[in-house]
Parts: sequence; structure tokens; C-alpha cells
Amino acid sequence: MSSHNDQPAPMTFTAAPPLSGAVTVPGDKSISHRSLMLSALAVGESRVEGLLEGEDVLATAAAMRAMGADIQRDEDGIWHIHGVGVGGLLQPQTALDMGNSGTSTRLLMGLLASHDLTATFTGDASLSKRPMARVTEPLSRMGASFTSSPGDRLPLTMKGACPAVPLDYRLPVASAQVKSAILLAGLNTPGITRVVEPIPTRDHSERMLRGFGADLNVEVEADGTRIITLVGEAELKPQRITVPGDPSSAAFPMVAALLVPGSQVTIANVGLNDTRAGLIALLQDMGGSIEIVNRREVGGEPVGDLIVTASTLQGIEPDPARAPSMIDEYPVAFIAAAMAQGRSVFRGLEELRVKESDRIATMAAGLRAIGVTVEELEDGIIIEGAGGTPLPGGGPIATKLDHRIAMSFAVAGLVSRDGVTIDDMRPVATSFPTFVPLLQTLGALT
Ligand code: S3P
Repeated sequence: MSSHNDQPAPMTFTAAPPLSGAVTVPGDKSISHRSLMLSALAVGESRVEGLLEGEDVLATAAAMRAMGADIQRDEDGIWHIHGVGVGGLLQPQTALDMGNSGTSTRLLMGLLASHDLTATFTGDASLSKRPMARVTEPLSRMGASFTSSPGDRLPLTMKGACPAVPLDYRLPVASAQVKSAILLAGLNTPGITRVVEPIPTRDHSERMLRGFGADLNVEVEADGTRIITLVGEAELKPQRITVPGDPSSAAFPMVAALLVPGSQVTIANVGLNDTRAGLIALLQDMGGSIEIVNRREVGGEPVGDLIVTASTLQGIEPDPARAPSMIDEYPVAFIAAAMAQGRSVFRGLEELRVKESDRIATMAAGLRAIGVTVEELEDGIIIEGAGGTPLPGGGPIATKLDHRIAMSFAVAGLVSRDGVTIDDMRPVATSFPTFVPLLQTLGALT
């Protein structure tokens, strides 16, 4: 986003002493986006506590403001949102700059699809490479029209339809963004919008739509297929939301504490929604000591505190069915595999090729650059674990505007012999602005 400084910010991470202490991570990115969007559609004031104040979420806030919502942050860090009502979004006067954020882009395209207005979406070099057909195709069926750059990419201009036509759609790709885009479009569409999800993905949209008073029903079939129906022309009532800590951000101190010998770290208030908790199970299966205590509910989501103790990890060949529940955590899981004993084989991960970077290629290149033996597969990667001995290190790692690549290799640096240099730490501000200070608190930066 434009808030980035002009120059790359390289940084080197070196072998760390044992990590210790208790920390919290910033609010969940997925829930933060959704809380701003739904609050902006409710009539009256919603209050959001624990909102992630990262660039991606701020891009959503700016877009909702540009379409008529009143969004303010008070000095205690509580966000106050006065919404415009379902169907009440206004024509934005300038292009919507989505920065690096695929979630903002795809969910907002859904929201706008059932409004009679025209909007242009732009983004940074990473976002401008990402495929949008997965949302433009179903939203076109609802009546919206799109003029995209070649390959269905940004910059893109869309014209919404009002009234839109309700859709009955079976997701061809396991994507919470596509599911959410259709449901958000369905809010201002007469009749029933139905999404069939053969492989479950994160369900924050469903939980929050219900919480705001939408008539939404989820039916689970014997084979696990989920059928979500939403009654359109909904009325949303303002809410008070507390956003739990982001498990996708907790992933980095979690893996760091497992890998740096002698560490013990508590990460408090982490979201434990089943559709997001796949990394914890994977690391436990590899032999990682992660104890979950103080389980409770915050803002309609399960949360808990994690006590993570350094452990010897074993290589693993995880079931690709786990992928949606840890889709954003594979980069740091690959770092754990690089330090494990024996080989790990990850497959069924073609979706990683269309994230903020091609995460299979970016991780394979980075792991090779720090001395790890890997084989890149079309749909995954084979990693030969170092068996607990420090990774050789090196760099600079090309992070390709991908925050999770930068943070994953920062963790690798903490268990390296010669240090790992990241070419540019600026993208970390999209999701985890307090990442470096948090490592400092744990004693990881010498
Ligand atoms: C997200 C869904 C996931 C995830 C992204 C956030 C969301 O994307 O990778 O970081 O908030 O819905 P897909 O739905 O494309 O898998």
C-alpha cells in the first residue's frame, strides 16, 4: 500500500537463545475484515475491540468509508462503525486501493455485486497477479459485470446488479473467500442464496452473519459437505465484537518456540476455530509440545492460551485434507519440517501457488538458499529435515511482497548457523505489524 516506504527494508535474523515469556498476537485478519464489512452494513453503531490494525484491514476500512460508512478508532483502540444498512453502500468516487489484500478485494467484490454502483479495484504488484475469475464467474451469474485486466486480474472495474439474481453454487475450489463473496452478495439479493461446500473452509462469515441477525442456515451432510443458505434482503443489527488473536500470526512464535532449544512460551488468546487450527494438530503429530489451556469463547469463536515447549520434531506426510484448516500456515510448517528428523512430503497444495506469492516456488527457492535440500512438486514439496542441527543460513531471501514468507524465514534465522537475511520486511505490516517487537519480547533478537 501507499503507506509502504519506498525502499526495501532488509533484516537479518540470527541464532536465538531460549525464548521465554507470555505474549499475545494481534487480532484475527479474517475476522477483522468481516467485522468492518458487516458493521458497515448494519444500521446503528457497532463496536469492535481487538481489530487487527494491519495494512490489509485498513484497506477494507478505507473502502467501506469511501462507500459511506462512518468508521472511527477511539484512543482506547476501540473501533466505532456506523453502517449504511444492507443495500445502502454509495458509489465510491475514486478507485478502491486494495494494497496487498486478496481478502478485501474478493469479499468487497461480493458485497458490491448486489449494489447498483460501479467500482474499480487496484492493488500492488502481488495482488495484481492473483486470479479473480473464481469470484467474477459466480458473481456474473448473479448479474454483476466485470472488465478485468488480462487473466481476470486487477485492475478491474465492476458494475453491480440491483436486484441481483440469487445463486445456487457448488464451490469448485476450497475457498472461504469465494464462499464469503457469494454470501455477502446474497445479503442484498431477493430470495435464497445457496453455497455448497464439499471441503469445509473457515466459517467466520457464517458465524458473524448469524451474529448480526441474518437468516443463515448450515446443513452438514454425512460426507462432510456443507450446505449454506442465506435469506436475502437481510437486516443486520449492530454488534459489539471482540476479535480473538490470529492463529495464523501465532503460528510464527509457536514454531519458533518449538525449534529454538530450551524455549517455553505462552501465547494467550489465540483463535482455535476448527477450520483454522490445522497447524497445531500437525505440529503435535510431528512431536511438538503444544498445550492448550483456558479454553473459552470470545466473540462467538473458540479461543485458548497455548503453552509451547521446545521439542524434537519428526518428519511427516500430512493428509492433503488438512489443507484448508492451515492454508496460510504452510510456509512456517515447511520451516518446522526443515528442522525435523527425516523427510516430510507435502502434497495437494496447488492453492499455495496463487497466494500473495507462489508459496511453493518461493519457499523452495528460499529453503535452498539457506542450505535445505528440497524437491519442488507441482502440488507440494519434499523437504529433507536437518534433524535438529542448525540450518546453514544465508540469503537474502526473496519474499516477493509476501508477509508470511518474510516471517517464516525470520523464524528459520533463529535456528541458523550463519543467520538468514530477509530482503524486505515491509510486507509484514499487512498482517502482523508487531512481529519484530514480539520476537524481542520473547528474547529472540540478540
Ligand atoms: C481468507 C481465506 C483464505 C486465506 C486468506 C484469508 C479469508 O483464502 O488464504 O488469507 O479471510 O477468507 P482462500 O479462501 O482463497 O483459500
